[in-house]
Amino acid sequence: MRTGLVVGIVVVVIIVAIIAALLARPPAPAPPATTVTTSLITTSVVTVSGQPTTVTVTVTQPATATTATTTAPATITFYTWWAGLERFAIDAVIGNFTKLYGINVEKTAVPGGAGVNAKIAILTLIQAGKPPAAFQVHCGPEMISYIYAAPNGANSFVNMTSYAQQIGLIQQGPGVAWSCSLNGAMYSLPVDVHRANLIMYNKHLLDKIGASVPTTVQDLIAMCQKAAAAGIPCLVLGGADQFTLLQTWENVFLAVAGPYKFMQFLYGTLPPNDPSIVQATQLYLNLTKYLSPDWAGVDWTGAVADVVQGKAIAHVDGDWAVGLIHNVYPNVTMCPVDNITPNCDIVFAPFPGTQGVYSLVIDSVAVPVGPEAQYGIEFATFFAGPRGQAIFNPIKGSIATYKNISASIYPTTVQQWEAQQYRDARFYVFSLTHGGLFSDVWQNLLQQVVVLTQTGRADLWYSTVAKALSTERQEWSGWYMGFPNNKFWGNATS
Ligand code: GAL
Repeated sequence: MRTGLVVGIVVVVIIVAIIAALLARPPAPAPPATTVTTSLITTSVVTVSGQPTTVTVTVTQPATATTATTTAPATITFYTWWAGLERFAIDAVIGNFTKLYGINVEKTAVPGGAGVNAKIAILTLIQAGKPPAAFQVHCGPEMISYIYAAPNGANSFVNMTSYAQQIGLIQQGPGVAWSCSLNGAMYSLPVDVHRANLIMYNKHLLDKIGASVPTTVQDLIAMCQKAAAAGIPCLVLGGADQFTLLQTWENVFLAVAGPYKFMQFLYGTLPPNDPSIVQATQLYLNLTKYLSPDWAGVDWTGAVADVVQGKAIAHVDGDWAVGLIHNVYPNVTMCPVDNITPNCDIVFAPFPGTQGVYSLVIDSVAVPVGPEAQYGIEFATFFAGPRGQAIFNPIKGSIATYKNISASIYPTTVQQWEAQQYRDARFYVFSLTHGGLFSDVWQNLLQQVVVLTQTGRADLWYSTVAKALSTERQEWSGWYMGFPNNKFWGNATS
């Protein structure tokens, strides 16, 4: 925990320094822009950790790009949390963009999975009226939190809807466009589809204790009891960056409550005394009795490493863990639960009890209105367009939002399985931990879930949840997710 505190202080100092530097920097003048038509590349070579990776893309439509013509190359700032071990996909996108467009992108990567630090840094800049040219944001109400903080509200951000149409994003990914629209408009362009309701297992340890992949939360707890009897740590979560704790609670809640109540939680309309909240919390506490001894000091990348190295059996995370393993542990074989081969080291499965549901995590790029907006738009449209997505998603562990991007571009069978699972899902919900909550509510729940896990104080958790629900309800007022007359419910009905 002491290491966590030191890291926390260092991160805060870095953030403050970055903000001070940015506030001091005069904005770049807007360049003249011309529109050019480029033909689509079908094969792009990207470099990951020195290893060239060939990405083949099958896209049919022509791409139109607006390119700035200036003598000196322009430089814009992009704020993100894709730092450290998860930098490879974004670096490949930026490298390709700069090569094609001649615009430099200075990546300010504020470390901390799920944006636990970056979101505060971005919010501060927006509040101060000095936003970066472009920034990472999840689709969902997280974007409304920035709108609330900005000096001119929604007018402080470029409405990206027409750009989304121009790059074929709405036509090729109507479901994603539905969930990324706020009051019918897209304030950011989606670049991927991640999944939050996943769990990964070390297959060798499963075999060692004679367990198969659990299909219900009760099964998972029974597996942990077996592991405890064999002296093997069962579950590792990342206490140092907190978000996998909240993600585990939300997955247990999804298993218990089902997709409709889950979406009611998101909109704040779930009654705070709904029995599913208590039921989920009790199961969560039963499960987290079996946390590995080092959980409080590791972040999500450390937790993934623990499972890969056989220090714990399971870890609950999104499929960015697939990207991490693919890029950092190239000798590890990952399998989807439906196709466990004998050489398999790590198995990815839907979180027990949530099969058939796809809990969406959609990263996107927003562009504040301002002198650098034209560059920001060029970056966002390239990144969210077929070419950018075909570079980004194979490396990131996610899947592309374009239907006409073939699943054969993904280097792992887990991603190919996910592309199929995404198509076949009966319900879609929007992850609470990753964009589905207003940022103030999210902060409170993140802090309190750590208290819940450390102390078992369910009473404190219930009052935090009750407050979260009422704040969600208030903050949604005047807003909805989705298209006019078609609010996003992800197919769930009561
Ligand atoms: C999520 C984000 C993912 C990945 C993950 C871990 O919030 O959507 O792209 O970055 O956090 O940092």
